Amino acid sequence: MLEKLISLVIEAGMILKEGYHGSKSVKYKGEVDLLTQYDLKIENFLKENLQKEFKEYRIVAEESENENLTPQKAIYIDPIDGTTNFVHNIPFCCISLGLWEDGEPKIGVVYNPVLDELFYAQKGIGAYMNNSQIKVSQTKELQQSLIATGFPYTKVKKGKDYRWVMESMGNLLPKTRDIRRLGSAAIDLCYVARGTFDAFYECNLKPWDVAAGILIVKEAGGEISDHEGDKYDLRDHIIVASNGKNHKELIENLPSY
Ligand code: IPD
Ligand code: CA
Ligand code: CA
Repeated sequence: MLEKLISLVIEAGMILKEGYHGSKSVKYKGEVDLLTQYDLKIENFLKENLQKEFKEYRIVAEESENENLTPQKAIYIDPIDGTTNFVHNIPFCCISLGLWEDGEPKIGVVYNPVLDELFYAQKGIGAYMNNSQIKVSQTKELQQSLIATGFPYTKVKKGKDYRWVMESMGNLLPKTRDIRRLGSAAIDLCYVARGTFDAFYECNLKPWDVAAGILIVKEAGGEISDHEGDKYDLRDHIIVASNGKNHKELIENLPSY
């Protein structure tokens, strides 16, 4: 199963890479939420192949199958995570595929073909990047932690999400080594797993953004929760990922929602 998913994602990666270096037609799903022909091309390619090979799994995919978010057996597809980066030729964009059963992640694959970084994990066998095992960082203090975050598209409305983002940044900026906004939640999670980032948090992500990355973080020895430290459910509004050592201190500095 893992091998099959990896080979499909690598094949889909060729489409992403061709698009990254080629010309894109850009449409708007919202005020600043972009969609290219490559998001659709990759999603269709993966859907067609997965439906043939994994008949008992329901596909949940960002651009087409986004209604029933938590079926019992699900494969979550984000065809391009980091579409804004993809459009602007910033090399942090990837394909994310997560296989879940009964509300638990079993397999996660995240592939950035531009940087040739393939992350994967399977429950119980650890997390890997390009076939080398990866582990979270050892940083204990929040003050010495490099934290990643992201901004939800709802920011344009200047509503509750926007206020939460600003308040959390206000709290954390002086108390951390620094904050990064890379533009792909799936890559942010993989970089926590690899120890590049010491932690990551974001509000209003969707299951396809995080379904693969959650397992990659956990299998690399990290911790995942909601903003109150409780078990993260794919429908939760806020996700916190860390190396486990700085988790409590990070959560203490996140505002309630
Ligand atoms: C987005 C990216 C981004 C995050 C947004 C996501 P998309 O996904 O993961 O980092 O901040 O909230 O929606 O739209 O590029 O698939
Ligand atoms: Ca996404
Ligand atoms: Ca996407």
